[in-house]
Amino acid sequence: MNNLTKTMVNRMSRVTNTHLTDRHNELLEYVCSYYEEHRVGPLYQNIKRVTGATKEEIDSLFPYGLVSLYTWVGIPIQSAGSPCKPMAAVKVDNFREVYFDHNATTFVRDEVKSCLVKYYSGEYGFGNPSSSNNVGKNAYNIIHTAHARIADLLKVDVEDIIFTGCGSESNNMAIKGIAFNHLKDKGHIITSNVEHPAVLESVQFLEELGFDVTYLEVDSDGRILPQAVKESLRKDTILVSIMAVNNEIGMINPIKDIGAICREAKVPFMVDAIQGFGKIKLRPKEWGISLLSMSGHKIYAPKGVGALYVEKGLQLAPLIHGGSQEFGKRAGTENVGSIMAFGLAAELAKKEMDSEAQRLTELRSIFLDELRRIEPAAIINGSLENRIPNNINVGFPGIDSGSLLLSLNLIGVYVSAGSACSAGSSEASYVIKALGVDTDRYGIIRFSFGLPNTIEDVKYLFKYLPPILEQLRLDQK
Ligand SMILES: Cc1ncc(COP(=O)(O)O)c(C=O)c1O
Repeated sequence: MNNLTKTMVNRMSRVTNTHLTDRHNELLEYVCSYYEEHRVGPLYQNIKRVTGATKEEIDSLFPYGLVSLYTWVGIPIQSAGSPCKPMAAVKVDNFREVYFDHNATTFVRDEVKSCLVKYYSGEYGFGNPSSSNNVGKNAYNIIHTAHARIADLLKVDVEDIIFTGCGSESNNMAIKGIAFNHLKDKGHIITSNVEHPAVLESVQFLEELGFDVTYLEVDSDGRILPQAVKESLRKDTILVSIMAVNNEIGMINPIKDIGAICREAKVPFMVDAIQGFGKIKLRPKEWGISLLSMSGHKIYAPKGVGALYVEKGLQLAPLIHGGSQEFGKRAGTENVGSIMAFGLAAELAKKEMDSEAQRLTELRSIFLDELRRIEPAAIINGSLENRIPNNINVGFPGIDSGSLLLSLNLIGVYVSAGSACSAGSSEASYVIKALGVDTDRYGIIRFSFGLPNTIEDVKYLFKYLPPILEQLRLDQK
């Protein structure tokens, strides 16, 4: 331990009223030297092998057990207060980075990047789209093209598309935009308990204002039944908001059937399509959808741009008041570069939709074969039918998802967990819980594939996953 680490240890012991003994120092020395050599903290099993200290002893010596042992010597952990982050250290032969987190976000693809470089270098499009001069008109035309490209993917009209600052804004704009027309008499909203927080928090806010909300539950496959929507409709229902594709488990809802029910009942139907846009067919006009939200960063455009389809004639109170941009529905000088990028990404997604869906479905079935081979007791959350091709959500029995995520991270495989630390944690994902999965038993990991992923990526993962799982399980014994 160097002097700086010693000072830190002394300080932490004082702050936490811990009397430092030789045993404390022995453990701290070992953990520190292990970290210097491996750049990760040791697992419980390593600590026990070398020093003889059990988990119970560590917990009794240090105020937050392993977390204190790590942090006192400066080992970074993912979240303070969470004692569940030991990582498996597996040596890899040919390190590669495998990004399996495309439901979280995507990189900006090359075609989009090169057009953005021209935009940001000032080659074109820097004018204010509301200006009448030539540079302004040029920027206006760029936005118009982007409207047309997004509209084309949905088979709607150019003026039905509004650009926003992100997918969350689109959801807020749609839900509050309808509700704010009913501030006097309030009314009833139907949604589901597995929506994205951008929907759930919006309706919860409206509940505080006096609106009444029904949260539908999913079936065991993770889908909303159209019949459940029908049975929940009331005379005062002002909106139904159901997502097209769930962001965690990739389940595709029966949007067309729900749309038909809403249309018959003359109730506006809002669809959060942020995980589905550009990946599956969506037809708002034919399917009875009144509002449909999209986001650029899920389809290889930059972050910070979204869009909303608004059915003709639908009254929507604006969230942002001001100028007459976006057909008077969303004020503010447009983010021309990002809008252009989003439009181009949508056009490319349209061209590739069928071939990518087929390719990713094949890749996923190879993934599933491998998973069944190495981990037959793993569960798949949500059914395989009616699932977006790029998503698979796995429950690993007896594994802490936070530890698995960080262990995979160390070998360059990037995924998402159901929550920061799901197995055995009260923070387990509400979506997975809604499926009835025992989140104390299973560590939940979402793998989401995208354009750059190949069979080589899947092989790389499954080469190192077995020793990682083995180490993590041994550590829990
Ligand atoms: C289903 C769903 N809705 C809404 C959002 C929010 O979109 P944005 O990140 O563009 O605000 C996301 C993003 O993860 C999402 O997956």
